[in-house]
Amino acid sequence: MGRYSACIMAAGKGTRMKSDIPKVMHKVMFKNMIEHVLDEIGTIDFEKIYLLVGYKKDLVIESLREYDVEFVEQKEQLGTGHAIQSLWDATGGIDGSIVVFSGDMPLIDKNEVMKMIELHDKSGAAITLMTALAGWESDFGRIVREGDGKIIKIVEKKDATLHELSIKELNCGLYCFSCDFLRENLPKLQNKNIQGEFYLTDLIEIASKNGEHVETYITDKNEIAIGINNRIDLVRVSQIIKNRILEGHMLNGVTIIDPNTTFIAKGVQIEADTTIYPFTIIEDDVSIGSNCTVGPFVRISGSQIASGVKIENSIVRDSIVQELAQIGPFGHLRPGANIGAGAKIGNFCEVKKSIIGEKSKVNHLSYIGDTEMGANVNIGAGTITCNFDGRQKHRTIIEDNVNIGANTNLVAPIKVGRGSKTGAGTVAVRDIPENSLVVGVPGRAIKSPCGAE
Ligand code: UD1
Ligand code: CA
Repeated sequence: MGRYSACIMAAGKGTRMKSDIPKVMHKVMFKNMIEHVLDEIGTIDFEKIYLLVGYKKDLVIESLREYDVEFVEQKEQLGTGHAIQSLWDATGGIDGSIVVFSGDMPLIDKNEVMKMIELHDKSGAAITLMTALAGWESDFGRIVREGDGKIIKIVEKKDATLHELSIKELNCGLYCFSCDFLRENLPKLQNKNIQGEFYLTDLIEIASKNGEHVETYITDKNEIAIGINNRIDLVRVSQIIKNRILEGHMLNGVTIIDPNTTFIAKGVQIEADTTIYPFTIIEDDVSIGSNCTVGPFVRISGSQIASGVKIENSIVRDSIVQELAQIGPFGHLRPGANIGAGAKIGNFCEVKKSIIGEKSKVNHLSYIGDTEMGANVNIGAGTITCNFDGRQKHRTIIEDNVNIGANTNLVAPIKVGRGSKTGAGTVAVRDIPENSLVVGVPGRAIKSPCGAE
């Protein structure tokens, strides 16, 4: 491909969203709309990607810190033509060709963009634009052609005559421009239309009148053309992306019992023979091994789940769950939980910033925070690690084979030595030696070591 830059127009407020948030920052499957566009075109060999920002530009720029784009401000949003004029003014002009995208088209397809670019390269046209033959009622610009098929202009829906409204060929809002053509013709745009805006699309009429070559790439992937202008579009597009993601997992051997109530972010890894039950949300940065059952009613983000794990009716955030562990029903793993192999976190239990050793059980109504727990520990119902003294957090250490009685309060900092036990209702305020039994409030060692006098 020749020398190409890209420009994404994302300066608009998105009036039809009825929102304080810039349109391109609305979420589509857990990601800002604009990120879907950038992810899809990011691997195309563009010299540079310019991103036009305007409405609440600082928010947009901040949210895209990780992307290699050059931000250009469009101070007032006077239309898509004005957007490209602003790019021109800010950069002092660009050479080669430029592909113009809209930030509100997260269904954009890289392969189709490449086909448009190839056509533009081959034909040497001043403008190549993507159109779609849609059978649906649409707000999109209509492609007006002469009897011989030559394109004359694009008419926006609001400016269209009744006859033009019935045209089925629509403007997808994706264009390749020769930069020489832009340099000469951008200043000619006027805003004499019903919206009082400078339309980028008017360049087609200008080119056509000057006898310039305008090429169209008619895509048969109509979905690409669906832009997001309001919150109904937002759901429509989200559903399409959601289904693509789910179908990818199903083809990889994951059973998804009810795709309608399952939401999985892009990039989540799930191995074969795992089953996802209904009402499950799996957000960014999650990997799940094979032979797991996840759901119903589970929400996971930022976590690694190993194979053979069972998670039901639970929330898991920024945690690690090792092989064959079981979470829930009604577990809450907060950031920094690391649940060992074969361990169980049960009914109404919360674990935060804690290591739970292999095969240990926290089965009923407990809070475990800032704790390092060994293997084969049994935590009785209602046990609390009292990690916060009102000012500071303190750590609890529970060594292997400890058996904590129901309703024990472990007042941190505290260490429970291996093989020790606490009686029901104990309030333990100081370290418990190995193999001891502690009872009472506050707890004191009455027998140490276990079995001795
Ligand atoms: C535009 C096209 C229409 C096409 C449709 C496809 C024009 C005049 N019309 O209409 O023919 O069918 O896209 O989706 O171009 N933007 C700016 N600065 C502005 C105005 C808009 O950056 O001053 C950005 C918006 O943030 C948005 C994109 O340009 O990302 C498109 O603008 P929008 O107002 O949504 O255009 P449409 O009415 O959808
Ligand atoms: Ca739009």
